[in-house]
Amino acid sequence: MSKRFCILLTAILTGLVFLSVGTLVVAATAEPDKVIEIMNEGYTKDKKGPVAFDHMAHTKAGAKCTDCHHEYDKDGKNVWTDDKPVEKCATCHDVNKNTEKDGMKVMKLQNAYHKNCKDCHKEKKKGPYKKCNDCHAKK
Ligand code: HEC
Ligand code: HEC
Ligand code: HEC
Ligand code: HEC
Repeated sequence: MSKRFCILLTAILTGLVFLSVGTLVVAATAEPDKVIEIMNEGYTKDKKGPVAFDHMAHTKAGAKCTDCHHEYDKDGKNVWTDDKPVEKCATCHDVNKNTEKDGMKVMKLQNAYHKNCKDCHKEKKKGPYKKCNDCHAKK
C-alpha cells in the first residue's frame, strides 16, 4: 500500500467514526424504527406476556410523541420535548403501587400503560386493538 493511500484510508475511516458517533447521539432521542418489546420486571404477579409496540405504525397513524411521552412540571404542564432523553415509564410509575409527586397522582405502571394505550384505542376509537391478547403475547 502506498503511503498516500494509507493517509487517505485513515482519513476516510476517521470520518466514518465521527459520522457514526454523530448518528448515535441523534438516535438517542429519535423514534425507534424497530418494534420494541415492553416487558417490565418487578410486578408482584406477572400474569401477562410481553407487548410488542411499533412506534412507526403509531406516528404514521397520527400519534404525537407527547401523546405518550411526558415530564410534568409543578403546574402539571407537559414539558417533555423530543430533544430530551426518553425515560422508561417505570422510572416514574412504580411497578406495584400508586405514588404521588408534587401533589400529582402517579398511577402504578400497569394502570398507566392501560390508560395511555387503551384510552386511545377504545374510547377515542382511534385504534382497532382492544382485546387483551391483541397486545399481550400469550404466556
Ligand atoms: C392496547 C394494548 C393493551 C391491551 C389491549 C391490554 N394491555 Fe395489559 N398491558 C399493556 C402494556 C403495554 C403493559 C405493560 C407490560 C409490561 O410492563 O410488561 C400491560 C400490563 C399488564 C399487566 C401487568 C403486567 C403483567 O404481565 O402482569 C397485566 C396483569 C395486564 N396488562 C392485563 C391485561 C388484561 C387482563 C387485558 C385485557 C382485559 C389487557 N391487559 C389488555 C397493554 C395492553
Ligand atoms: C403511542 C405511544 C407512543 C408514541 C406516539 C411515541 N412513543 Fe416512544 N415509547 C413509547 C413506549 C411505551 C416506550 C417504551 C417505554 C418503556 O420501556 O418504559 C417508548 C420508548 C421510546 C424510546 C426508547 C426506546 C428504547 O428502546 O429504550 C425512545 C427514544 C422514544 N420512545 C422516542 C419517541 C419519539 C421521538 C416519538 C415521537 C416521534 C415517540 N417516541 C412516540 C410510546 C410511544
Ligand atoms: C419523568 C416521570 C414520568 C415518566 C418517565 C412517565 N410518566 Fe406518566 N406521569 C408522570 C406524572 C408525574 C403524572 C401525573 C400527572 C398529573 O397528575 O398531572 C403522570 C401521569 C400519567 C398518566 C395519566 C395522565 C395522562 O397523561 O393521561 C398516564 C396515562 C401516564 N402517565 C402514562 C405514562 C406512560 C405510558 C409512560 C411511558 C411511555 C409514562 N407515563 C412515563 C410521570 C412520568
Ligand atoms: C394516540 C392514540 C394511540 C395510543 C396512545 C396508542 N395507540 Fe396503539 N394504535 C393506534 C392506532 C391509530 C393504531 C392503528 C395503526 C395502523 O393501523 O397502522 C394502533 C395500533 C396498535 C397495534 C397494532 C398495530 C401495530 O402495528 O402494532 C398495537 C399492538 C398497538 N397499537 C399497541 C399499543 C400499545 C401497547 C400502546 C401503549 C403503549 C398504544 N398502542 C398506544 C393508536 C394509539
